[in-house]
Amino acid sequence: MKEKINDYIESNKDRFLDELFGLLRIPSISARSEHKEDMYKACEYLKKSLLDSGADNAEVMKTEGHPVVYGEKIIDPSKPTVMVYGHYDVQPVEPLDLWKSPPFEPEIRDGKIWGRGADDDKGQMFMHVKAFEFLVKENLLPCNVKFMLEGEEEIGSPNLGKFCKNNLDKLKCDVILVSDTSMIGQDAPSITTGLRGLSYMEVEVTGPNRDLHSGLYGGAVANPVNMLAKMIASLTDENNRITIPGFYDDVMEVSSEERKEMAKAPFDLERYKNEIDIEEAVGEEGFTTMERTGIRPSLDVNGIWGGYTGEGAKTVLPSKAYAKISMRLVPHQKSEKIDELFIKHFESIAPPGVRVKARKLHGGEGYVSPTDQTAYKAASKAYEDTFGKKPIPFRSGGSIPIISLFEEILGVKSILMGFGLDSDAIHSPNENYPLWNFFKGIETIPLFYKYYGESS
Ligand code: BES
Ligand code: MN
Ligand code: MN
Repeated sequence: MKEKINDYIESNKDRFLDELFGLLRIPSISARSEHKEDMYKACEYLKKSLLDSGADNAEVMKTEGHPVVYGEKIIDPSKPTVMVYGHYDVQPVEPLDLWKSPPFEPEIRDGKIWGRGADDDKGQMFMHVKAFEFLVKENLLPCNVKFMLEGEEEIGSPNLGKFCKNNLDKLKCDVILVSDTSMIGQDAPSITTGLRGLSYMEVEVTGPNRDLHSGLYGGAVANPVNMLAKMIASLTDENNRITIPGFYDDVMEVSSEERKEMAKAPFDLERYKNEIDIEEAVGEEGFTTMERTGIRPSLDVNGIWGGYTGEGAKTVLPSKAYAKISMRLVPHQKSEKIDELFIKHFESIAPPGVRVKARKLHGGEGYVSPTDQTAYKAASKAYEDTFGKKPIPFRSGGSIPIISLFEEILGVKSILMGFGLDSDAIHSPNENYPLWNFFKGIETIPLFYKYYGESS
């Protein structure tokens, strides 16, 4: 089968790229209302792609937010069903001036596809469409396939849970297949077995009822920006542990055996530091870098603003200060409980002279995927065939909150076959996806179907 796939890729690769580029040109930024129409355009584009690739039917389905593309090919209702999940929405592109080529004018340079969504998740999602095309055209599909492609992942999938509940029958499947994560390296194939949960907050600190002259009032009135900085600084201690009372109560402790196993992953700390140009990797005392993102929670300020930030200087004591703060959570921590703990704690540490409000923006639960399930074994065999080595199971620091909801609502496990690299700069300027990874994905996915079909 591997040879057939490679022949198919070889004779169709320019078309595959043309088709992907058409999708990458649509600025489907879910966070921005001015792109509402583009979300529909991306859906229509994908619907056509699915139909052209061999789906029996495909449709654009409304939700309370951005629409979902659903498509399927049912070869035999008594056979198992794989559902592919992906997202066609992308992150905003600012700061624009840092892009070497415009985000929605994809191009190939240095063996990579450059553009917003090249990896996350249009590029990775499209590998599945083309792998499916191959299986259909060559008559090698061993099971039923469904596609559910959503447009709100980057804003926390606020409407997808309800969509699933309303379409339980349609979405019935045996396993969910997702390429929306990364692997350790091109020479270190890996399968993601864990995702972190998320609790995302916005806080507001209010001082005087208007911006004040910082000479007339400075030193005598609590400055909301100063106070916010102090409050944020107090959220972690000298060992980089989070100080919110109760925060660690439910954290799943990982056994030293499992930690030893995890430490075998070929993680290169020097390369990691070089790539992002830092001297030192910093995090919770007592844990390695891989552990800090894989099995430990974290707290980060995503943005902070208030007062004067324009050109030159303005002497002002601001009336308000704001920050967006996210916490990444690990198994057994519940995001709603963490939301509450955070809000209670943050409001309780308000210094005299200011008022503090905290509210939740979004969040979701983490996920762990066992390596002893049939579908994991099938994925593992597929990688072994195409990479020439057994993939390493590893827990990623990122989040895809809908994955745990799939388990809760549909009762189905997901297999996270991510082919991205950390250097793909997802969410950043100059997002890219190596052609090598794109085609490796298209090569590996059909083998998953083959082994999964044989074993179930
Ligand atoms: N594809 C990413 C998540 C990801 C990337 C997981 C790489 C593992 C490795 C996804 O699109 C994403 O960005 N998720 C958000 C969560 C969301 C609620 C905005 C995240 O992790 O910040
Ligand atoms: Mn993604
Ligand atoms: Mn993303």
